[in-house]
Amino acid sequence: MSAKIIDGQKISEEIQAELSKEIETLKNQYGITPGLAVVLVGENPASQVYVRMKNKACHKIGIYSEQHTMPADTKEADVLKKIDELNRDDRIHGILVQLPLPSHIDEQKVINSILPEKDVDGFHPVNMGKLLIGLDGFKPCTPYGVQKMLVHAGIPVSGAHVVVVGRSNIVGKPVANILLQKQENANATVTVCHSRTKNLAQLTTQADILIAAIGMPEMITADMVKEGAVVIDVGVNRVDDPSSGKGYRLVGDVKYDEVSKKCKAISPVPGGVGPMTITMLLYNTIQAAKNKAAV
Ligand code: GUN
Repeated sequence: MSAKIIDGQKISEEIQAELSKEIETLKNQYGITPGLAVVLVGENPASQVYVRMKNKACHKIGIYSEQHTMPADTKEADVLKKIDELNRDDRIHGILVQLPLPSHIDEQKVINSILPEKDVDGFHPVNMGKLLIGLDGFKPCTPYGVQKMLVHAGIPVSGAHVVVVGRSNIVGKPVANILLQKQENANATVTVCHSRTKNLAQLTTQADILIAAIGMPEMITADMVKEGAVVIDVGVNRVDDPSSGKGYRLVGDVKYDEVSKKCKAISPVPGGVGPMTITMLLYNTIQAAKNKAAV
């Protein structure tokens, strides 16, 4: 069996075309241009790439975006000051602080300082709390993108056994909670596994939908996957590859070649979840602008 490829790039283009139209309407009918501020502290090469891609995507669909790049030795107080300015700036509807932050900065303190109504990453405790309870708020972009991707690929979630491998605040915990909700496109039975889980393969082989968000290159092998399962690979890992021009290549958390022969559908890396994360950031930013204007 050869798996259907869940093309996150194509799904993203479809959603972004809709978002573009929505921005036109906001501009023409209400005089609103959604605005995003991206804060990058330090020189993490992967973060630099992500931030560039986020700004480019904003530009492409008509969202105003500005980037605030701060050196790696920036004091925590200065990052908090920058966020305070952006919280007060009327052109800015969404604020995103690219993670990870340098180790001398308390990440949670920085996240807590963003106004929940501008927290388009959905990482603020208020938005995380709303997600847990099932109230409207901003949902983190990667997990929200995974849900949208499943919907667009026509994969039923209700009643399915979803096994999430990974318990990060950015992906594992929120994706488990999004798919668990008593809501449309959710209602899954969810199991969350992590580095201390015993007999991991015994659990992952029970998954109708397996979500890999561990951050370990090609850790999920074919023997860990049930025949006919759906596999969503959230991992983006750089592995050394002297034969590539950059000296590295990107691989997911799933051993794609062998798993794709066994499963029903699989999201590739790159071109799977990555583009969906960016798309949901655009979606959340537009939502923030609409919420502010009450339209
Ligand atoms: N680092 C890795 N993923 C993300 C994300 O979705 N948002 C932010 N701000 N930082 C990240």
